[in-house]
Amino acid sequence: MSKVILVTGGSSGIGRAIASYVNEKNNYVVYGSSRNIKKLDDVAFMPIELDVTSEKSINDCVEKVIKEYGKIDVLINNAGVGITGPLEETPNSEIEKHFKTNLYGPINLIKKVLPYMRKNNSGLIINITSIAGYIGTPYRSIYSAGKSSLDIISETLNMETKDFNVKVVCVAPGDYLTNISQGRFHSPVIKGSTYQHKYESSLKKMNQNITKGANPIKVAKLVNKIIHLKNPRKKYISGSFIERFGIILKFVLPQRFFEYLVLKLF
Ligand SMILES: NC(=O)c1ccc[n+]([C@@H]2O[C@H](COP(=O)([O-])OP(=O)(O)OC[C@H]3O[C@@H](n4cnc5c(N)ncnc54)[C@H](OP(=O)(O)O)[C@@H]3O)[C@@H](O)[C@H]2O)c1
Repeated sequence: MSKVILVTGGSSGIGRAIASYVNEKNNYVVYGSSRNIKKLDDVAFMPIELDVTSEKSINDCVEKVIKEYGKIDVLINNAGVGITGPLEETPNSEIEKHFKTNLYGPINLIKKVLPYMRKNNSGLIINITSIAGYIGTPYRSIYSAGKSSLDIISETLNMETKDFNVKVVCVAPGDYLTNISQGRFHSPVIKGSTYQHKYESSLKKMNQNITKGANPIKVAKLVNKIIHLKNPRKKYISGSFIERFGIILKFVLPQRFFEYLVLKLF
């Protein structure tokens, strides 16, 4: 039987590119999700409803796939949102909402699919993290925290699931042209706030970077390659030369000099 793949957040950007490409290139059963199934009217892969912030929705989604095909071979935890703002001014309600989507969502999905993967003694979990999870930039602390948490969870989980032949891989994209800026929670720029001018110009820079971002098909091709590998690496970075080089610089440059460079850029 062919592989059964579930891609969360298949309605837009990176997730849509992954679900479409993997579906087109293989004879697999590919499900792509959205909270609003109507957004998936025009896709060739199999649409499925999912809100990763709801445990009931996660249960319903996974049970539906299991009922139809009896297994999930590959889970791609892609659904996610952005959040910006000076930490001091970011509302706690938004911080909680963010972690519910970007961190607890993937965790709960993993917990739900793992028993089926263990039963099959086979499985692959690909978590879409971010270069922002490796390099912190100002006014994006909560986003970076969610992604770096998912990265370390993946690293740990991979060791816990080794005995059941379940592999856990992180794919960390740099800037890609998607709807992420539009869907982000932006803490409002507060007039007269001590952070106003620096936050305003950092925000402009972040949005410019997305506008100049790469085509998400690049991540889709990488994910498709990983699915076919017998022994994938634990971590993949999918970004421009400068984004990848930035991660190396972080570990080789004196911390103060690296921070100076980040502040210059943002
Ligand atoms: N774009 C970049 O530069 C970039 C860089 C690094 C990492 N990433 C990561 O890549 C992933 C995809 O982002 P993108 O850039 O492709 O953004 P996007 O175009 O805004 O797509 C986000 C996707 O996530 C889904 N989603 C959001 N909240 C959800 C929820 N509560 N439950 C279920 N699905 C939800 C959306 O589906 P519905 O609204 O239809 O439900 C949509 O399909 C995210 O994890 C993001 O953090 C993006």
